[in-house]
Amino acid sequence: MTTRPALLLVGDDAVIRNQMKWAFTLAYDLLEASDRAAALSVIRQAMPPLVLLDLGLLPDVKGASEGLAILRETVRLDPTVKVIAITGNSDRAIAIAALESGAYDILEKPVQLDVLKVVLQRATYLSDLEREGRAVREQAGATELEGLLGNSKPMQDLFGMIRRVGPSDVPVLITGESGTGKELVARAIHRLSGRKEAPFVAINCGAIPETLLESELFGYEKGAFTGAIQQRKGRIESAQGGTLFLDEIGDIPFSLQVKLLRFLQDHEVHRLGGKNAVSVNVRVLAATNVDLQEAIKSDRFREDLFYRLCVVTIPVPSLKARGSDITLLARTFLTKFAEAYKKSLKGFTPQAIDALLAHDWSGNVRELENRVMRAVVMAEGRYVNPSNLELKDLSYIDRDSTSLRVARELREKELVRVVLEKADGNVSKAAVELGISRPTLYQLLSRYGIRIPRFTE
Ligand SMILES: Nc1ncnc2c1ncn2[C@@H]1O[C@H](COP(=O)(O)OP(=O)(O)OP(=O)(O)O)[C@@H](O)[C@H]1O
Ligand SMILES: [Mg+2]
Repeated sequence: MTTRPALLLVGDDAVIRNQMKWAFTLAYDLLEASDRAAALSVIRQAMPPLVLLDLGLLPDVKGASEGLAILRETVRLDPTVKVIAITGNSDRAIAIAALESGAYDILEKPVQLDVLKVVLQRATYLSDLEREGRAVREQAGATELEGLLGNSKPMQDLFGMIRRVGPSDVPVLITGESGTGKELVARAIHRLSGRKEAPFVAINCGAIPETLLESELFGYEKGAFTGAIQQRKGRIESAQGGTLFLDEIGDIPFSLQVKLLRFLQDHEVHRLGGKNAVSVNVRVLAATNVDLQEAIKSDRFREDLFYRLCVVTIPVPSLKARGSDITLLARTFLTKFAEAYKKSLKGFTPQAIDALLAHDWSGNVRELENRVMRAVVMAEGRYVNPSNLELKDLSYIDRDSTSLRVARELREKELVRVVLEKADGNVSKAAVELGISRPTLYQLLSRYGIRIPRFTE
């Protein structure tokens, strides 16, 4: 089923109406209204994404007061609607007033159909993006996976895994590059478990100095060391009945690993300076962005601890592997920050979307979130552009004298990355798929600074 976007024509100029009908019947679902009351009634009922509004309406055919009033009311009813205003008056003040009142664009009579066609296409594109983003946000808010957005196959697989593993009580090791959302995954697992009413206690093993980490985790008795003026429970104990999230587990000092292992086996802790064991019932989730197998090989991580923690391993995909989720997340963050900073931004320009899709995202979702936040602060117009995001505007590169080379390199880099992802990081397989030799593929990887995804040959 193909659905044509609805386009509402508002005006009483018969010439324009006939022109539009003739030109746009096939591409759009045309609706008509000749005055303010009729226009607003159609907008309330049909919520058309596009409105073509003749500003010169009765009773102010020469001026634009009636048209501008309709415009303002329309935008108030539906802030995502794209209103293209048409004026027969070359007064610049009217054009400016229209744009200030929320018109998407303004065209002068006589309307050039080819120009209008392009304007409508762009408006449809933007409106689709904005509406889709809103729908997805509404739908995502309703589940236990709240906060975790993603429509891509890798993310849907991840959600499936979280749903399956959540209600069980097994330890889970969450792996993934920095900023991919490992903590969100841990929280979702907790919310899906029978422990959801009990505490979720997170501790970042990498952020706490080695000397403090032990007392943070296990607690201490009064007088255990200088400064221990009263008894204090550790984080493990304070998660009693709930979930303990050991973040950056790869950074836990070797000396503490034995102690942690003992706790995982016996389900009891000894506070520093304490004589008696305290029994603790917690589920342990751990996260790491380093390869623990590597750490085991180089004697930085105990193998027995590893097997205790990774009864189930959940890999969180890198942002680059999530395809169009990049724009979904970007739009969600834009809405969030625009609200927070009280800026009336409507979305991204098509150039910004292209730039977002082409960027490398080594910092994953966290980098995307930060970039969009800065862009929202910096943006001056209604739409965020590549320079607000501090990303290269690829449409300019295309016009550059070196355009062909740059464009080819961008494609090549993208293709190599996608094929390598699909081959699960297996270089030989990817080389066959690309029709090149392994050495050539290695050359491309180093030229473009592409890292091989985890499970390598
Ligand atoms: N799928 C997602 N949907 C929405 N927001 C996300 C998603 N994934 C991550 N985020 C956001 O990105 C930021 C980073 O997420 P989080 O802290 O969970 O990552 P991490 O993998 O623990 O990173 P690090 O390894 O650096 O600790 C957070 O602000 C989080 O809310
Ligand atoms: Mg984290």
